[in-house]
Amino acid sequence: MKICVTGGMGYIGSHTCVELIKNNHVPVIIDNLSNSNKEVLNRIETITGYRPKFYKLDLIKEERLDKIFKKEKFDAVIHFAGLKAVGESVKKPKLYYGNNIGISVILLKVMRRNGVKNIIFSSSATVYGVPTHVPLVETDPIGEATNPYGQTKIEIEKMLMREHEIDPSFNIVLLRYFNPVGAHESGLMGEDPWGIPNNLMPYINQVAVGRRECLTIFGNDYPTHDGTGVRDYIHVVDLALGHVAALKPIQEKQGLKIYNLGTGKGTSVLDLVKAYDEANNIQIKYQIGPRRAGDVAENYADATLAKNELGWEAKFNIVEMCRDSYNWQKKNPNGYNVEPSEK
Ligand code: WQD
Repeated sequence: MKICVTGGMGYIGSHTCVELIKNNHVPVIIDNLSNSNKEVLNRIETITGYRPKFYKLDLIKEERLDKIFKKEKFDAVIHFAGLKAVGESVKKPKLYYGNNIGISVILLKVMRRNGVKNIIFSSSATVYGVPTHVPLVETDPIGEATNPYGQTKIEIEKMLMREHEIDPSFNIVLLRYFNPVGAHESGLMGEDPWGIPNNLMPYINQVAVGRRECLTIFGNDYPTHDGTGVRDYIHVVDLALGHVAALKPIQEKQGLKIYNLGTGKGTSVLDLVKAYDEANNIQIKYQIGPRRAGDVAENYADATLAKNELGWEAKFNIVEMCRDSYNWQKKNPNGYNVEPSEK
């Protein structure tokens, strides 16, 4: 299939492009490079031997987006593009609502106008809000997101569900990610956040290569086995393969489908640090700090539905995730080198 991959130069998008190419699909990337780097295109080509077509474009530019859709005649869209820093969204809610929801409205309009009725949406576990129980299943109610970033994911999910209600021939797959970590085995691609990492694994990586002094663990007084936050970490290549698998209900025109993409296992912060030390034979320096606002104690998936309906399940374990993460950072101590342009 010929697939429009919005945000395809990003961490998850680029890994997904590699797996799409390996499965004989044709990804075409649209990305404004606001939080990614053109170097990624060279890395995709080095890994796969194929250089995807790339359009540098902000999806808000409806006219130019429409021209691309008329020219490329896509079979489907995988929609990754959007701002995704939870902390930043709390400080700049209007930026997140305007951007994440605004570009999705434009994308949907252009898809409809060009008869493209297949979309896989990069959603998030944050749509469940503060979990009332774990593991979370797809039929659990959508909660009140604990931050504007999560709220934008809820609004976009609702918009897509309405689209399917109005026009049942629209095939929509909502993929709810838990915590993506790790990197391609080559070490050529990986997570390269701009500025101080919000997320745990990139922060640990930067401590490991000496870019950061010490990891602060946000609270060790949660009601978990060791007091630190428990999450469902999933290898980014497993996540990418989940997107390839999600093309099945699209090709079979199954309408609206929702899947959790996680391992079904919870790992605490201290567990992760220990696994990282063991996998890479190093000692990550850490200190215990206060809890971070908006954090929940535990959050992990029940991914049985994806296994039963997509034939997909996560294969990498936590030690392999830590090994591949460090391998990327060791080979690219300053990420893709160039800081993305100022917003
Ligand atoms: C994980 C654990 C922290 C940093 C977010 C988004 C979610 C998804 C994944 C996009 C928590 C602890 C973290 C640090 C720490 N993103 N931590 N020190 O918050 O579970 O999920 O990223 O889809 O939507 O909400 O991920 O990696 O920030 O935190 O102790 O320096 O690590 O308290 O327990 P989170 P995270």
